[in-house]
Amino acid sequence: LRETDPIHAVLFPDGQRGWMVTRYEDAESVLKDSRFIKDMSKIYGGSMDQMSVFTQNMLFSDPPDHKRLRGLAQKAFTPKMIASMRDRIQEITDDLLTKLEGQNQVDIIDEFAFPLPIIVICEILGVPSTDRDKFRMWSNSLIEGTSGDSNTTVYEHMNEFIQYLGQWFATVREQPGDDLISSLIEAEEQGERLSESELYGVVTLLIIAGHETTVNLIGNTVLTLLEHPEQRQLLSQQPDLINQAIEESLRFNGPVEFSTTRWAGEDFEFQEKKFKKGELVIVALNSANHDPEKFSNSEVFDIQREKSQHLAFGKGIHMCLGAPLARLEGEIAITSLFNRFPKIELAVDSADLEWRPGMIVRGVKTLS
Ligand code: HEM
Repeated sequence: LRETDPIHAVLFPDGQRGWMVTRYEDAESVLKDSRFIKDMSKIYGGSMDQMSVFTQNMLFSDPPDHKRLRGLAQKAFTPKMIASMRDRIQEITDDLLTKLEGQNQVDIIDEFAFPLPIIVICEILGVPSTDRDKFRMWSNSLIEGTSGDSNTTVYEHMNEFIQYLGQWFATVREQPGDDLISSLIEAEEQGERLSESELYGVVTLLIIAGHETTVNLIGNTVLTLLEHPEQRQLLSQQPDLINQAIEESLRFNGPVEFSTTRWAGEDFEFQEKKFKKGELVIVALNSANHDPEKFSNSEVFDIQREKSQHLAFGKGIHMCLGAPLARLEGEIAITSLFNRFPKIELAVDSADLEWRPGMIVRGVKTLS
């Protein structure tokens, strides 16, 4: 598609007309162009009822709401705040790796890549990380659109999740602390800066975005290094290449396959295609990151690649808020895993690995 029909007209199964953008240059332009809007209520009107807890947040807002909502969470994710978490992230990583000692075969996703980011985001938000398996179940349901359990529907999971948040917010209201949730609740109580549904929306986004993606950054990087032994050896000889290795992994095997949806907010022409108001647009981030017009030898995994301007974290005003945190977690996780277990190998053929369903995240279900 990238070569033959880079802005491809798509008819979605529900009859919605839209476009898929696959070249780097077009992808970057769409992500930065304010004619592609995020708030679908501007097109379809009305509230999104149960879904609103997942959409009333910065990712599905346009200016000026976007700036207000992002601003409320921003202070917890500045590079300085994230750098101050280095020692704690290292400690959590070391504890998880200690539990793997002495085992012949482990599932790196289940026992390492999943718990690390969820513990970290729970600590930032002030949620008990002992409830992390529940978070995993709920966010899997949402991301994959299936509950994975024949007795429970996705809607039941959403309801459980909303109830859980309600109880948790009630506890924090009684005893506010010095954490991000307490400051969001304070903003909500003042009434002007954050509505109740936005409070739910922002917290849900942070929980889901804060771990679904980073699990796959860790999993995909481990897998890619194991599949490229010469690059793994280079990294072990030159450990200071770790940050370049993480960037190259984000480009080569990015955890987010497609951007979230944007909508044409008006009728207009873009790269000679006529976009009609209300048509949906998605950006194929991983395709853009493999565009040979942007990246030389784009199909080669090369941890010495010059500063890579990949789109794995998006671009423009919605560029990932958690990028500094994800990068730090990735750096610590990969360095510590390969230092502690220099001889790890894949126990199964990589062709037999099962990938997660759904269009948004790219990552294997298990990695052992
Ligand atoms: C937005 C990727 C980790 C929070 C985004 C977007 C991408 C992305 C592509 C933009 C989506 C779009 O424009 O449609 C990733 C990747 C991650 C990661 C690849 C890990 C490797 C995190 C973490 C957090 C986070 C750890 C927070 C704890 C957010 C938020 C937004 C966002 C809040 C919305 C920003 C806005 O709309 O202004 N992320 N993310 N992400 N991400 Fe991440």
